[in-house]
Amino acid sequence: MLDSSFFTDPAILSLLSASVVLLAAQFYTASVFKRQPFPKMKSWVVVKNGAPSVALALKDVGADTTKSLPQPKGADILIRVSHAALNPADLMFMGYIPTWLPFRFRPVPGIDFAGEVVALGPQAGAVASHAAEPLTVGARVAGCLSVSLVATGHGSLVEYLTVPAELVARQPKVFGNSSAEAGPASAGLLGCAGQTAHLAATDPCAEAAFALSEPRVLINGASGAVGSLLVQISKARGARVVGVCSAKNSEFIRRLGADEVIDYTQHASLPTYLASAPAYTGANSFDLVFDCMGDQDLFVKSPAFLTPQGAWLSIVGKGILAPFISARNTMVPAVLGGTPRKYKLMGLSPSGEQARAVAKWATGDERALVKEMPIDSVYPMAEVKEAYEKQATKRARGKIIIKVQEDKLDS
Ligand SMILES: NC(=O)c1ccc[n+]([C@@H]2O[C@H](COP(=O)([O-])OP(=O)(O)OC[C@H]3O[C@@H](n4cnc5c(N)ncnc54)[C@H](OP(=O)(O)O)[C@@H]3O)[C@@H](O)[C@H]2O)c1
Repeated sequence: MLDSSFFTDPAILSLLSASVVLLAAQFYTASVFKRQPFPKMKSWVVVKNGAPSVALALKDVGADTTKSLPQPKGADILIRVSHAALNPADLMFMGYIPTWLPFRFRPVPGIDFAGEVVALGPQAGAVASHAAEPLTVGARVAGCLSVSLVATGHGSLVEYLTVPAELVARQPKVFGNSSAEAGPASAGLLGCAGQTAHLAATDPCAEAAFALSEPRVLINGASGAVGSLLVQISKARGARVVGVCSAKNSEFIRRLGADEVIDYTQHASLPTYLASAPAYTGANSFDLVFDCMGDQDLFVKSPAFLTPQGAWLSIVGKGILAPFISARNTMVPAVLGGTPRKYKLMGLSPSGEQARAVAKWATGDERALVKEMPIDSVYPMAEVKEAYEKQATKRARGKIIIKVQEDKLDS
């Protein structure tokens, strides 16, 4: 016999809750796939957890008996994907989220996308965030999928993608009129990298620094996808920009607006170097640091080279340790060994609103904050494994793009 304490035991409650969530997810997944009887199409699928070379397979998916594309429901739209942009986070999803979870049925990798709207759900044309220019069939859009969509396997490395209309923005015309021109730049800028750069650069701490007269800004990881955008934005906002990258990327980030470059490979310890260099300490301290590398040792040493009013904005947590490191950096007072500088760990919650705000940076209508979305390389759909291998080296200079398919309107 079970007594009532069985149902109040936290462990049992957790198990029951997990089962309910899994069941609900299974029903949800089943209903999603039932609602989307796609014709046969190419899709990358995570077939087992691991590195891209073993985790991924290019498959024909979809119900081959169905000849026409499905009609999206509610406020969803159907996009014919022309390009996808890769992100470091993709490697985490394919490496660590078990493929056997019921809600990850046939998981597709990829977060960022650009393409053309081919069908609209009945409410998609009236989505409030598109009120100024309602979405229509044929509109070229781009955006970044939410964590819940990617975690449940609805990634962007697929020829047709159903997404909520509120997650997309129109591709900026400044990048060109064909998908070949505008697709790669839009997938990067309106995707995860651009939206994260926007999140960091519009944080109140960053705004406070940019309001100073010629603020000094340090960007760690300046040649990456997010860093290369932050270099441009910081320069355009009037900052003196110091970028950290290796020597081979020095000219690249100078071209984007960096006034100085620190080659981290030339120093046994970057934290020790920065904390002792007269050019970056005392009166020459930084007003703001964008940390695109998540360098905790550098933050701990930051009182030597970051002004007391300055802020440290990090976009990188260290896996499961991230909450503890963040708590240590924000809550432990200096007398107990904490670091007396303002620290924020930022996490992106993507939206079409944010994508639209980033797109405006590039339009040049008022003030062009972003002159270009740096592209490291463009790979064909068949070479996604090679592209992810490059991503995994952490040596990309800007975004790695996948050309998913030809755009019919271009030919
Ligand atoms: N919080 C969020 O919501 C969020 C969103 C997007 C990205 N992120 C994270 O932010 C980080 C950066 O993303 P990303 O897309 O910009 O990465 P990325 O494009 O893959 O970064 C590659 C760049 O990192 C540079 N790099 C590598 N090691 C370095 C080091 N020790 N010091 C300085 N630079 C170094 C490389 O330059 P060299 O070749 O010159 O070394 C390369 O150009 C990733 O960890 C990503 O997961 C977080």
